[in-house]
Amino acid sequence: MRLGVNIDHVGTIREARGMRYPDPIEAALLAESAGADGITAHLRIDRRHIKERDIRILREVVKTHLNVEASLDKEIQSMLLDIKPDWVCLVPEREEEITTEGGLNLKTVPGEIEKATKKLKNSGIMVTFFIEPKVEMVEMASDLGACAVELNTGKWSEYPSDANYKKIEGAAQVGITRGLEVHAGHGLNLRNVGRIAMIEEIDELNIGHAIISRAIIVGMERAVAEMKERILLGE
Ligand code: PXP
Repeated sequence: MRLGVNIDHVGTIREARGMRYPDPIEAALLAESAGADGITAHLRIDRRHIKERDIRILREVVKTHLNVEASLDKEIQSMLLDIKPDWVCLVPEREEEITTEGGLNLKTVPGEIEKATKKLKNSGIMVTFFIEPKVEMVEMASDLGACAVELNTGKWSEYPSDANYKKIEGAAQVGITRGLEVHAGHGLNLRNVGRIAMIEEIDELNIGHAIISRAIIVGMERAVAEMKERILLGE
């Protein structure tokens, strides 16, 4: 099972100050050297964390695979056709949301989704749809030409009931039957990831918030000690 590391929140911290650091590119390279199998970044319409510059540089430097989450926004779609990440994950996007709130409802604009998917695939880009773990959505994703589905584990991580777990398992099985790759993500952390990792049909997990949060905590002692040493050394 592959691990895709979502580096958006490195961009969130950078943008909080409008500075050049921390740089999501540096974080991506370190994630890869620690064993990440892929790098994920969400290029949002409001550019609140990841910028076009990040995606262009990531395309150059990522050695594993680059997965860009994006809405159907025309400007972003044409930018992606030009940059050509390995994967594009189509996600719904709402301006006021704190993070992606749920899966793409494939029933609302199936024609637009199918058209965008075709264009991306014709440029050699693999396409995945971030969807709720529902059999009906997986079947529709397959009919609309997706190469993979990314199952939203967000609801299960919030309410880890057997019923919610079974929905993920069931949707993953249908994905395999339909010949799709099955990815999953949202809300996964050190405490709950093990259970999802037991679902054999899942090929890839995409995890962001928990990894970036943990990196801040485990890196705190070292960062403070480095600063203290520099102060003590003087110029
Ligand atoms: N997958 C998708 C489609 C997402 O939008 C996100 C959040 O950006 C993730 C996975 C990762 O979720 P989390 O940050 O909760 O690990």
